[in-house]
Amino acid sequence: MSFYQFKDYIEEGDLVLAFIGRGNLKPLTVKRGSTLGTRYGNFDHDRMIGMKFGEQMSGAKGHGFIHLLHPTPELWTISLPHRTQIVYTPDSSYIIQRLGVTSGTRVIEAGTGSGSFSHAFARTLGEDGRLFSYEFHEPRYLEAKQEFQDHGLLDVNTLITHRDVCEGGFEINDLPAKFDKNGINGDVVFLDLPSPWTAIPHLDKVISKTSRVGICCFSPCIEQVDKAVKALQENGWSGIEMVEVAAKRWESRMDMVKDISDVVKRLKDIQSRKSKGIENRRRVKATQAGEKRDIEQVEADDSEEPKKFQNLGKGFNPFGKGMRVREGDSQWQWKNVTKVEADIKSHTSYLTFAYMNPNVKISE
Ligand SMILES: C[S@@+](CC[C@H](N)C(=O)[O-])C[C@H]1O[C@@H](n2cnc3c(N)ncnc32)[C@H](O)[C@@H]1O
Repeated sequence: MSFYQFKDYIEEGDLVLAFIGRGNLKPLTVKRGSTLGTRYGNFDHDRMIGMKFGEQMSGAKGHGFIHLLHPTPELWTISLPHRTQIVYTPDSSYIIQRLGVTSGTRVIEAGTGSGSFSHAFARTLGEDGRLFSYEFHEPRYLEAKQEFQDHGLLDVNTLITHRDVCEGGFEINDLPAKFDKNGINGDVVFLDLPSPWTAIPHLDKVISKTSRVGICCFSPCIEQVDKAVKALQENGWSGIEMVEVAAKRWESRMDMVKDISDVVKRLKDIQSRKSKGIENRRRVKATQAGEKRDIEQVEADDSEEPKKFQNLGKGFNPFGKGMRVREGDSQWQWKNVTKVEADIKSHTSYLTFAYMNPNVKISE
């Protein structure tokens, strides 16, 4: 399974991100005999095998559905198991773009945390780039390492090291040949640590001396920014600038078209079901009071399905609010709409950028 390439069909052992609803994305590894249980029904892994990524899958009993999505770093970020606070796509994409991370870049990242940003870096760097990720919390390091192994990152371009970078710095003895370019030789540094100012003095030994190196320190509070800026200045970094990303998401979707007659039909429907309920309860009471009547008939009336709204016509949503109608179902009329998030997400972090210029002597 790969975060680097797409494939069409789901096989046993693949990581699938099950889109259950907005904001509800569940990662699963397809395994024969397993079932994904959701409030919309059960979804057997056996049936997923051979389906196309992106396809809609109906529940075991024919109702309810999910979509089976191919993993990407962006989707992984919103579905991964949180072990720490993580970096989200509005920040990671901005940092990647601003620091010019591209195929072949050598990135130093500390700490690894939940590996959210690591996946975005790894995909962007491709086969020629390298990601050196550091994590000092041992259980978290081991979990991230296993995840990187399962997701193919370690086979392509990623090396994770168990290390306190503030104490021990970033140098790695016996670098595997695949990662060695006269040492680490990083072009880009990303620090998501509580005290980046204690790690900054160690960077000199591991960054490129022949190209411009960019750094971003990701800090949630301004006091941390202040200390990071001082450390950057003291250690020869320049072009220091701090920004905060405030993103608003736009979403396109289909909305069911309803008109006044639909509303009238719906009100009539609610009214008739209410009257029917009252009538049934009255009859049950009467029976209990000794009136001669057929209790079985009452139960049959109660369990009768609402008459499926046969004559209510196209355009009317028989289920009312809260029931799922498949978006775009041809039984109803739809229009394309866009929706913007009402509020800008609250503060995530301050991003402090700086650059180290190479020690290139310009000849006279
Ligand atoms: C906020 S998390 C990083 C989240 C990560 N950027 C992501 O997107 O998932 C910070 C991580 O840094 C680790 N950490 C803190 N101080 C460290 C240090 N001195 N050396 C290495 N890792 C450290 C913590 O254990 C934690 O897992």
